[in-house]
Amino acid sequence: MLSFNEILQKIETEITQLSFEYPPKSLYDPIEYILSLGGKRIRPALALMACNLYQDKVENVINPALGIEVFHNFTLLHDDLMDRADKRRNKPTVHKVWNDNTAILSGDAMLIAAYQLIGKTEPEHLKEVFDLFTSTALEICGGQQYDMEFESRNDVTEAEYMEMIRLKTAVLLACSLKTGAIVGGASKEDASNLYEFGIHIGLAFQLQDDLLDVYGETATFGKNIGGDILCNKKTFLLIHAFELASPEQQQILNEWIGKDTFIPSEKIRAVTNIYNELNLKEITSAKMQGYYDKAMAHLDNLNVSPEKLTILKEVSNRLMYRQS
Ligand code: IPE
Ligand code: IPE
Ligand code: MG
Ligand code: MG
Ligand code: MG
Repeated sequence: MLSFNEILQKIETEITQLSFEYPPKSLYDPIEYILSLGGKRIRPALALMACNLYQDKVENVINPALGIEVFHNFTLLHDDLMDRADKRRNKPTVHKVWNDNTAILSGDAMLIAAYQLIGKTEPEHLKEVFDLFTSTALEICGGQQYDMEFESRNDVTEAEYMEMIRLKTAVLLACSLKTGAIVGGASKEDASNLYEFGIHIGLAFQLQDDLLDVYGETATFGKNIGGDILCNKKTFLLIHAFELASPEQQQILNEWIGKDTFIPSEKIRAVTNIYNELNLKEITSAKMQGYYDKAMAHLDNLNVSPEKLTILKEVSNRLMYRQS
């Protein structure tokens, strides 16, 4: 079996070898830019790790894994535009370095490049991998649409939030794992347990992302802290803040959320203060832990020897306590 570092190394080498059909330079430079900034590469890593549970050889999963990573990076180009985010992976976002239209079109080209890579999956598994990828990609669009719509609603429920993050984030982690399982030749039952593991780890992952957006450090997180607060994102923290707030806190929250013009740092400070007063960091962490435990139970259902699961368990654990 490959170590996690060997897996990351393989992915990095393959990503640097991706080549695009220049010109126009202004279409492809942003793609090379975002792909060269790294990131955790967790999705392709999950695909390779899942495949490696069933096969020593992971070569056959490389193309779909790269397709998933290119797709993920495409979603980031559009997401940063939609979220008015200026920083990603500690560098200015594509729409800041270039402009909005470039982020849209280079993003579109990345989506197509992602499909090209998925299309290179070996014929035996192509249909299954392609169908899973396509339905996942559509689900992500649905999740992103809910995320945007929720910005202007103040009555979003926890259940609606959980469904939104399942769609925008969890399904891609699940798809990565299931793709690895399919290519590796896992049983239907194992493939579906890996998918469910991915959903639960993905829900925990997005809860952690919401937490880091408030409590992280820009230097390690690579994104500006407080972005979700500025956009009135209905994160787990804000939904519960509304629920738990005293009438005074309720009023402060409503005032900040209703303001069209404000000094960003003041809004971030005021909303974070209320989160602190209501212990939302602890409440969110506990919720996250619950999903993490459920994820682990799905791993234990797999029909593979327990020692093979060590790497996947270690990586999941690190994801939960990540700062980036
Ligand atoms: C960012 O994903 C988008 C979310 C789903 C929160 P990652 O946190 O995996 O971003 P990178 O690829 O490591 O930069
Ligand atoms: C991102 O959610 C989900 C997708 C990109 C599909 P966020 O908007 O929370 O991701 P970050 O925080 O910008 O990475
Ligand atoms: Mg965003
Ligand atoms: Mg977003
Ligand atoms: Mg976020």
